[in-house]
Amino acid sequence: MKKAAAIIPAAGSGTRMKLNHPKQYHPLAGAPIIIHTIEAFLASQVIGQLIVVVPADKLDETRKLFNAHGLDDPRIEITAGGLRRQDSVFNGLQLIHPEIDTVLVHDGARPLVSLRLIEECYSAAVEYGAAIAAIPVKDTLKKGSDDALITETIDRSQVWQAQTPQAAKVNLLREAYRKNGDADFTDEAGLLEQAGIPVKLVEGSETNLKITRPEDLAIAEKLLLKKDMKPDFRIGHGYDAHRFAPERELVLGGVTIPHPQGLAGHSDADVLTHAICDALLGALGKGDIGKHFPDTSDTYKNIYSISLLEKVAELLKTSNFILSNLDATIICQRPKLAGHIEQMRKTIAEACKTDIENINIKATTTEKMGFTGREEGISSHAVVLIQKL
Ligand code: CTP
Ligand code: MG
Repeated sequence: MKKAAAIIPAAGSGTRMKLNHPKQYHPLAGAPIIIHTIEAFLASQVIGQLIVVVPADKLDETRKLFNAHGLDDPRIEITAGGLRRQDSVFNGLQLIHPEIDTVLVHDGARPLVSLRLIEECYSAAVEYGAAIAAIPVKDTLKKGSDDALITETIDRSQVWQAQTPQAAKVNLLREAYRKNGDADFTDEAGLLEQAGIPVKLVEGSETNLKITRPEDLAIAEKLLLKKDMKPDFRIGHGYDAHRFAPERELVLGGVTIPHPQGLAGHSDADVLTHAICDALLGALGKGDIGKHFPDTSDTYKNIYSISLLEKVAELLKTSNFILSNLDATIICQRPKLAGHIEQMRKTIAEACKTDIENINIKATTTEKMGFTGREEGISSHAVVLIQKL
């Protein structure tokens, strides 16, 4: 795969942020803003070179900072910026390796950029020559006079809000600088456009925030914490088997099923519900059903096992987990269960306080093999996936 260079202009002074240091060095969600931005680019396979442009008096400090955060990736280069953003980008442009033909420019102050956006901008620049991340304007636009009176309502139908990354073929961006580099531009797309080079719009993201004003910090911190949060899934498995017994009701998944015999057990002997309870307790790392509801206790004699499942679901909730999905199999030669599966799903979904779509129940015979095949009893397996909130 052909690789791209990324230039990260981070040489501004952040005047609108009103901090006593440039905003890109401000810590947010455990690391300075610039570190988050760089990590986002290093995660992309298309990035073969990462040129970070910083204030001239912060070259050493930045190197130390990167080392302290374990950023020793050989793709990283640090250089000094200029007076305007476009001067900083220009300085970065001088360092691009000769074999690299595509460049992405991305504000150091946009730490929330996604891998998707980086790679879509890259692909669009490869295809079209130049590309920019942007979002269609949602709000109605007004033009105002100096004394804050509306002078015009602007048609927003073709108006986009520019973001970064802005990507281009290296030779096109160089050409644009040659032609118009002396004029003032706030972004690369402006420069390219002025040089008559078409720039493809790539749909950016509302969360690809440029940290600009003090109030942006709290929003960005929240989003960064969310971005860094790894989903915590746990898996659990349960198995149960009960012997057939005369003069007992057959209860499976909380549903009473007409059959000449039921299952023997201290409770209602609902094997399916027991397997589900065990799967949930297993996923939580909290033992098994026998530990929580001992069959030596009279409390649980002939108990409707769905009420035990409700207790386990409560434990799931207090442990801060939700059920992602459940899949269970009942192994039963007879009776035929197909007509009862929907009611079981509904009963179990209600007990677990989840949507019925999250509950799958299957039944199988064993072709008359083994204890279930000989109709000595019924068994059940269940697996669950639970997710920490
Ligand atoms: N930037 C740069 N060199 C400059 C000016 C800006 O590399 N001479 C960088 C900033 O560090 C930032 C990005 O360009 O990562 C976008 O600029 P902006 O958000 O305007 O940052 P600042 O210029 O630092 O902030 P302000 O305009 O409030 O002073
Ligand atoms: Mg600025």
